[in-house]
Amino acid sequence: SNASGSVAVLEAPSKKIEVISKEVTILYGSQTGNGQALAEKLTKNLKAEEFQVTLASMNEFKPNSLKKIENLLLIVSTHGEGDPPDNALPFYEFLHGKRAPQLDNLHYSILSLGDSSYEFFCQTGKQFDERLLKLGAKQLSPRVDCDLDYDESAAEWFTNVLATLNEQRGSSSTTVQQPVNKGVTEQLEYSRTNPFKAEILENLNLNGRGSNKETRHLELSLEGSNLEFEPGDSLGIFPENDTELVDTLIAEMGWNASEAVKVNNQGELKPLREALISNFEITVLTKPLLQKAVQFTANNELKELLESAKEQECRDYLYGRDLLDLVRDFAPWEVTLSNFVAILRKIPARLYSIASSSKANPDEVHLTIGTVRYEAHGRDRVGVCSDECAVRAQPGDHLPVYVQRNSNFKLPEDPNTPLIMIGPGTGIAPFRSFLEEREEIGAEGKTWLFFGDQHFVTDFLYQVEWQQWLKEGVLTRMDVAFSRDTKDKVYVQHRMIENSQAIFKWLEEGAVLYVCGDEKHMAADVHTTLEKIIEKEGAMSTKEASDYLADMQQQKRYQRDVY
Ligand code: 2AM
Repeated sequence: SNASGSVAVLEAPSKKIEVISKEVTILYGSQTGNGQALAEKLTKNLKAEEFQVTLASMNEFKPNSLKKIENLLLIVSTHGEGDPPDNALPFYEFLHGKRAPQLDNLHYSILSLGDSSYEFFCQTGKQFDERLLKLGAKQLSPRVDCDLDYDESAAEWFTNVLATLNEQRGSSSTTVQQPVNKGVTEQLEYSRTNPFKAEILENLNLNGRGSNKETRHLELSLEGSNLEFEPGDSLGIFPENDTELVDTLIAEMGWNASEAVKVNNQGELKPLREALISNFEITVLTKPLLQKAVQFTANNELKELLESAKEQECRDYLYGRDLLDLVRDFAPWEVTLSNFVAILRKIPARLYSIASSSKANPDEVHLTIGTVRYEAHGRDRVGVCSDECAVRAQPGDHLPVYVQRNSNFKLPEDPNTPLIMIGPGTGIAPFRSFLEEREEIGAEGKTWLFFGDQHFVTDFLYQVEWQQWLKEGVLTRMDVAFSRDTKDKVYVQHRMIENSQAIFKWLEEGAVLYVCGDEKHMAADVHTTLEKIIEKEGAMSTKEASDYLADMQQQKRYQRDVY
């Protein structure tokens, strides 16, 4: 459609779009849904300004039509070791490949999402930027690299992009000053910027006595929130920092706990103690934070640590340390409270894959949360949100939450489509929601679950439920790998290899394959295993097998929710 202000939201993954709006094309590459949510918001804003907008995921976009575009806005995140999100891969490879066209007529701008606690911060966005420039495209407005607390940087980028686009068409904007998170309609709805206080109904430890792990099963009430979700979506929780850590930090710096500090760019004030509990990140250190802090200390050691020759030492220092370590290790500090607070990251929400179906459990949402606990540098360390859920959150308490839609991890529309689900550890969560949903709607497609954890006796999460579903036929097959019950470790991918022939048969029958859980090790090993299975059972070359898997990914028949 070409009506002014129209939006084309593309849903069919296999049909790629060719005709592009003359005005603005927004493409997103998003793993967890943040990028997609921002792209949708930007679309809305531009539409309100009477721009013609075409919105698509990079996966749904035909890269050849790039030549016909005048204005391109890219929103893309970076994962793991600087990798593009799954749904950005084909587009990324096209642009970086030999077939990439000259793009002299293209104007573009990039919003790059990342986490500055990782070495390859915002790398994918940076690479797109470099590449587009090389291909002759011109920057509409400079790329903005966003950290986990992306709201304010994203709003700034929106404002700049809008101003430039308006300039280009020779009109001035009326809403340039409007921050991205202050949409009029949003105020009434619960969202990331206006989270719902969900009551905790249940909080159980799923692991048995003697386990090395603690995995919490949380049930929260969404009653009255109007929040909706589907299997595959996530719930964001805004955690609170441990008050003991906050108090120790305040004492260490000799601050006044009730002094008012600014908690956002709008200038909202809160007493320091409250702000450190709920607004700022104090349990993670990043290199950019060190680089900002160095001006405030008379201690030369921090400056030395930041020298380029000491990159590895700096990385080692950051691991497992928090703000309390920083202020202790590099005293004396010569800084006002407000200047110090201004360099802290806002505390980001933690996303958890939803473990229940709203059709089966209306007004509720269930989560499976692995408690993160470890020892480092002589102190016990915890994951701020999982620790809160394990130790402090009791039934009757409330947690600030929102639903994060994830279109990259969805049940197939046809309930007859077979499913293969691979989810060791807390990776099991979304598959509980898948099966609850399939049971509820009376779906008849066959299902196959691979689960793994350390010990059968203590770590078989939701064992009774899987067994019930197996009995009822909601679950067709289940293979488990308990890694520490035998002399040699057994992982889910070993079970997959044992069932190589059947897996390939299911894939050939059109099964959708899902992987959820650890990204760095498990998901990477499972990917390699899949390639091997396809190569062997399909009598293919390595290249053909990897293309087969890439095709599956393109058709949304290979979906990953990994972290
Ligand atoms: P391990 O801790 O005994 O090594 C859930 O955490 C399960 O995933 C555990 O059984 C864990 O085994 C296992 N796991 C660890 N690394 C893995 C990998 N690379 N691939 C698959 N499973 C893995």
